[in-house]
Amino acid sequence: MKRISLLELAHDIVGSYLEPGAIALDATLGNGHDTVFLARRVGEAGQVFGFDIQAPALVSSFQRLIQQDLQQRVTLRLASHADVLLHVPKQYHGRVKAAMFNLGYLPGADKAVITHVGSTLAALEAVSGLLAPRAVITVLAYPGHAGGDLEAQQLAAWAQQLDGAPFAVELILSSHDKPTAPRLFVIRKQVDLL
Ligand SMILES: C[S@@+](CC[C@H](N)C(=O)[O-])C[C@H]1O[C@@H](n2cnc3c(N)ncnc32)[C@H](O)[C@@H]1O
Repeated sequence: MKRISLLELAHDIVGSYLEPGAIALDATLGNGHDTVFLARRVGEAGQVFGFDIQAPALVSSFQRLIQQDLQQRVTLRLASHADVLLHVPKQYHGRVKAAMFNLGYLPGADKAVITHVGSTLAALEAVSGLLAPRAVITVLAYPGHAGGDLEAQQLAAWAQQLDGAPFAVELILSSHDKPTAPRLFVIRKQVDLL
């Protein structure tokens, strides 16, 4: 049996919402893997907005984008995702098809710099207001590191209160059945346009 990682699953889900010309957000750039994925899926006519609070994350993401000639489709911001409304131009509000959050710390860098529940939830609130009528947010959370446990707990509570039309929330647990294992929150928005 092939095991699919939660990150691969997040890419599959997000990919099903994206078509050429779409607008997408990477709320946690890190080393830019998710941004490259999003940039490919939105095509030349699309646009990705990527956020991180650490300059090395922007450098690493930009290098990765340049290697694949995808940099024109991506706007990188050295800013907290909590300030997303300041950085995504008004013309795109209500048009965001997908947003990815991959929480925790930047692999290979200072593990003390992590996402924090206050800014994570502020960002999720803001991003949920930017979504297109049919859209998705994925949040990959890691309760296994200090601070990640509280963040995952409060995220679950936030997601639970959001669940209900037009949002549907699904929690997907890792196949490694441990309380510290990563978990994927999938927040789908579906507005009936008829
Ligand atoms: C697990 S990494 C992301 C991995 C990344 N998506 C990739 O594809 O490589 C988490 C990132 O979140 C960033 N981060 C922490 N707090 C943040 C905030 N308030 N706003 C935006 N990014 C933040 C960290 O600096 C770190 O680079």
